[in-house]
Amino acid sequence: NTLFLITPTHTRPEQKAELTRLSQTLLLVPNLHWIVVEDSASKTLLVSKFLSECSLNYTHLNVKTPDNYKLQSKDPNWLKPRGVLQRNLALHWLRNNIDIQTQKGVVYFADDDNTYSLKLFEEMRDTKIVSVWPVGLVGGLRYEKPIVNNGKVTQWFTYWKPRRPFAMDMAGFAVNLHRFFEFKEAKFDYNVPRGYQESVLLQGLQVKMTDLEPKAELCTKILVWHTRTEKTKLKNEERMKMQFGHGSDPQIEL
Ligand code: UGA
Ligand code: MN
Repeated sequence: NTLFLITPTHTRPEQKAELTRLSQTLLLVPNLHWIVVEDSASKTLLVSKFLSECSLNYTHLNVKTPDNYKLQSKDPNWLKPRGVLQRNLALHWLRNNIDIQTQKGVVYFADDDNTYSLKLFEEMRDTKIVSVWPVGLVGGLRYEKPIVNNGKVTQWFTYWKPRRPFAMDMAGFAVNLHRFFEFKEAKFDYNVPRGYQESVLLQGLQVKMTDLEPKAELCTKILVWHTRTEKTKLKNEERMKMQFGHGSDPQIEL
């Protein structure tokens, strides 16, 4: 079973650091295909070079989020969903480039800034329909998780909107590749309420609560953390330019 990891990514000072950290985890995962989708009008040189040197199996795609769907610098981060078009493009690529007769696989949406235990990838590898597990450091809680009774998921341990059909973070589930070929229309969508991206995809895939396969010791272990990297302040670049006529060397890639 190949793991297909879908990672949206966007240009910012921390990007190469995040991709380095993630890729060096992924180097330790057997049978993996990394689909990296840049939020940009064209593929950047930084990501192109990075991927060509990373020693992973990868596919490099790009699609730019239109300005009206992009967060403005003053917006709170929950205002607009991120990664929607990028993940949809990856799903489109899979449906058009994978021969489902011969390829068995599992799809996981792996954001570039989270922290992943290697154990997580082995937990998800035998996903029959959809497997689920807890996510650490998310939703204003120590963790969010599926509530498991007699081996079945019955509810969601979340503070925020627990009545959502699938009240979990993007990092909390993986889907059998075959499912995306059975339900070819299933995708993410801007026209859904806040927090419903995961639910709209899984409903599009006709997933029922009884289909969910609880992993990580019946959802009692945290194997992925929704870490977020602090935005780096680069204010002394400007000050240096003002005082000395130049900041750091733009030729040196960050
Ligand atoms: C939370 C969830 O964990 C995400 O899966 C979800 O996409 C996001 O909320 C959301 O509200 O849409 P959070 O840490 O707040 O995550 O979001 P980011 O990590 O900033 O973004 C999620 C992914 O989209 C990242 O891989 C990031 O590189 C990418 N992204 C972000 C873009 O492709 N374009 C952007 O403009 C911003
Ligand atoms: Mn994140």
